[in-house]
Amino acid sequence: MHHDLEWVRKVDAECLMPTYRRFPVLFVHGYGTRLWDHEGKEYVDFVSGLGACVAGHCHAEIIAAVARQAAQLIHVSNLYHMIPQAELAEMLVRVSFADRVFFCNSGTEANEAAIKLARKYMRAVRGEDRFQVVSALRSFHGRTYGSLAATGQPEKAEPFLPLPEGFVHVPYNDTAALKDAVDERTCAVLLEPVQGEGGVYVADPLFLKAASEVCRERGALFILDEVQTGMGRTGSLFAYEQFGVVPDMMVVAKGLAGGLPIGALLATEEVARGFSPGDHGSTFGGNPVVCAAALAVLTVLQEEQLVENAARVGQYFLARLRELQGRAGCVCEVRGLGLMLAVELEGKNAAQVALSCLEKGYVVNNIGERILRFLPPLSISTREVDGLLAVLEELLAA
Ligand SMILES: Cc1ncc(COP(=O)(O)O)c(C=O)c1O
Repeated sequence: MHHDLEWVRKVDAECLMPTYRRFPVLFVHGYGTRLWDHEGKEYVDFVSGLGACVAGHCHAEIIAAVARQAAQLIHVSNLYHMIPQAELAEMLVRVSFADRVFFCNSGTEANEAAIKLARKYMRAVRGEDRFQVVSALRSFHGRTYGSLAATGQPEKAEPFLPLPEGFVHVPYNDTAALKDAVDERTCAVLLEPVQGEGGVYVADPLFLKAASEVCRERGALFILDEVQTGMGRTGSLFAYEQFGVVPDMMVVAKGLAGGLPIGALLATEEVARGFSPGDHGSTFGGNPVVCAAALAVLTVLQEEQLVENAARVGQYFLARLRELQGRAGCVCEVRGLGLMLAVELEGKNAAQVALSCLEKGYVVNNIGERILRFLPPLSISTREVDGLLAVLEELLAA
């Protein structure tokens, strides 16, 4: 049966819960940095499924790994050993600071796991009064209750009150406020190295360093949420490598399986000892198919040097956006790291600009009405960046 955009829009409007405002486009195919809609129009993708398709769309190696694993064994649950999960755990331990991994299905779930492990570990080591999590204003950690409580955007939580207790927020990059907030009740400090959903704000390296030090001095755990920054997005496999800090725990998701649903909590041996059998779990977490996909993603990142590409093209992209800022009066700020970039607009509506970009064959994301965000696949080229810049120049100079 042939379904067109009008049919899908009508059914979505009638049958889906109204949680999303969607762009009027129907993507039906992807390859590399490109998407095609139902009428065959081609787009360059600067969103990559909200940062998930780090290796681009429909990469042959990822397709093959998923197909092979799906034909062999799709799911058995965590009651049993699984070869792809063990291989992925071993690989993640090898490429990061961590000694142990817990698998789940999304970023918000990975943060829930981090909060639970932090509380349980600290309760055992330092007593039950140490349950507070300090995170940043404007942060985003997810939509489930624990992660929502950690998220520093009260308007996202307000309709769903009451939240779980024990969450404190400080302004991002405010070292003095962070030092004030970490006390004998703090079990963990949870921070994004670059705030993503909050509007793409890069951490001051001194702030992250101070956070790590104050945690060590006062016996709290230092947790980095690398759901958006991880898997090469910022120009190193994990952003912490560029900031000269090493966390006790790290949360990843999005790009880990290149577009399949996965999340992971990584931790040091010491902290991971906090969990015992039965403490936490997930039916699907780390299932054979998503783990096979994630292994293929890590292989592709390495074989095609996509992390290096993210660093190189990211620098070029940032420089070009800064040049644009010099010419277009409505660009008031350009921010970001690697291929996690944003421009803040004044006097132009970012949602409207994103829609105009779509019409011209470029998929970009807007955060609210002021911020345009770019999260392309890590394989994006400088030529494709030039193409987008030409369109932005036209739209923003107008
Ligand atoms: C830093 C960060 N943490 C957590 C999340 C939540 O991830 P998910 O949507 O997979 O639950 C996101 C999603 O954008 C994120 O950017």
